[in-house]
Amino acid sequence: ESGKLWGGRFVGAVDPIMEKFNASIAYDRHLWEVDVQGSKAYSRGLEKAGLLTKAEMDQILHGLDKVAEEWAQGTFKLNSNDEDIHTANERRLKELIGATAGKLHTGRSRNDQVVTDLRLWMRQTCSTLSGLLWELIRTMVDRAEAERDVLFPGYTHLQRAQPIRWSHWILSHAVALTRDSERLLEVRKRINVLPLGSGAIAGNPLGVDRELLRAELNFGAITLNSMDATSERDFVAEFLFWASLCMTHLSRMAEDLILYCTKEFSFVQLSDAYSPFSASTSVPSTGSSLMPQKKNPDSLELIRSKAGRVFGRCAGLLMTLKGLPSTYNKDLQEDKEAVFEVSDTMSAVLQVATGVISTLQIHQENMGQALSPDMLATDLAYYLVRKGMPFRQAHEASGKAVFMAETKGVALNQLSLQELQTISPLFSGDVICVWDYGHSVEQYGALGGTARSSVDWQIRQVRALLQAQ
Ligand code: ARG
Repeated sequence: ESGKLWGGRFVGAVDPIMEKFNASIAYDRHLWEVDVQGSKAYSRGLEKAGLLTKAEMDQILHGLDKVAEEWAQGTFKLNSNDEDIHTANERRLKELIGATAGKLHTGRSRNDQVVTDLRLWMRQTCSTLSGLLWELIRTMVDRAEAERDVLFPGYTHLQRAQPIRWSHWILSHAVALTRDSERLLEVRKRINVLPLGSGAIAGNPLGVDRELLRAELNFGAITLNSMDATSERDFVAEFLFWASLCMTHLSRMAEDLILYCTKEFSFVQLSDAYSPFSASTSVPSTGSSLMPQKKNPDSLELIRSKAGRVFGRCAGLLMTLKGLPSTYNKDLQEDKEAVFEVSDTMSAVLQVATGVISTLQIHQENMGQALSPDMLATDLAYYLVRKGMPFRQAHEASGKAVFMAETKGVALNQLSLQELQTISPLFSGDVICVWDYGHSVEQYGALGGTARSSVDWQIRQVRALLQAQ
């Protein structure tokens, strides 16, 4: 006996390099728990189909519990022949309970086994990541609520555009993340489908009740076609795309904050916990080793950069899938490292982002000082609109005022009423209200805008989503 579970017809020795190349145990050992879970359900299916006696099933269930116990306690010993988690667990089961172990794989293939395991693992991971995502969103909304009277410049093209509430900026990113949360639920729904009972390609010939397997493993549905079930990895691609889009959002938020914590902006400051000083040397460990004045936003830069790693995994898997012949090919073994790496990355990124946001210090004064009267040129046009002027004309009149101020070398709000009246007779004393930033933001009261009432409405909307979790 070769010691390999599939060793029957193989006689030649395998090149040790090939052995290592072929093995996935180094990473798919993460699946130990779900692999046991899947096998326990399958042995119940076998018993119901009359392929195991009750005693044999109990023996197998008991043995599988022991296998799980060894993994949980860190005493499971891999041997050099263990190719992957499925063969390792079955090998150990055989050592523990003897020949009955050989009945467990009846009608099952590693092809339906591995994809069942992966779906079980990812289903759990989706729930964990969803919790972390909501933790971040909650932190952002709390912050938005507490700081909703702080004003600062909103930018388009990185040029000062219009005054906005700081909370409006926070919520702009939080709202994007609520879509990621919604999307994750959708992805989870398609992950939560049972492939077990599909065999290697053609299905199960021994009357295993897949509905029973579904109920045992608490899946939402069963796969429709055994060929598709054993080889499609749409659910993996969707998960990686979900992560990619979420990272797009997080990296954009990180980029804003990286700018905002430069000396030039000085709107925010990272807490030491996310730009830490090393206690042993009292040198900032995420500062510069050469320039003592620097405090670098490493946490945010890493969040920004992890996006690249995640996109790479998504694109990489799609390239692996493209053009594969039906059905299972060993290429598919590559799906797991992508899933594990991206899951770990998302978990770390979401937690660091939550920490960064909850400990961020804001410099309200600098934010206020960065507002300038030219940012009110749009409001000046709206002032004229309210006096009855068509918008196109009002836009031009405001543009003339901007030009006049520039030519005179004064701020827009320094033009006298007489000067403004040379542009339009509709200007009167009440134009003074336009130059108040607080007054400016309050005009934007339509739902979704930056007025306090609308920001409060946004907070209520996101909180309602939070509550529905
Ligand atoms: N370790 C393999 C994987 O991850 C298990 C499936 C192997 N199936 C096969 N027919 N060789 O995909």
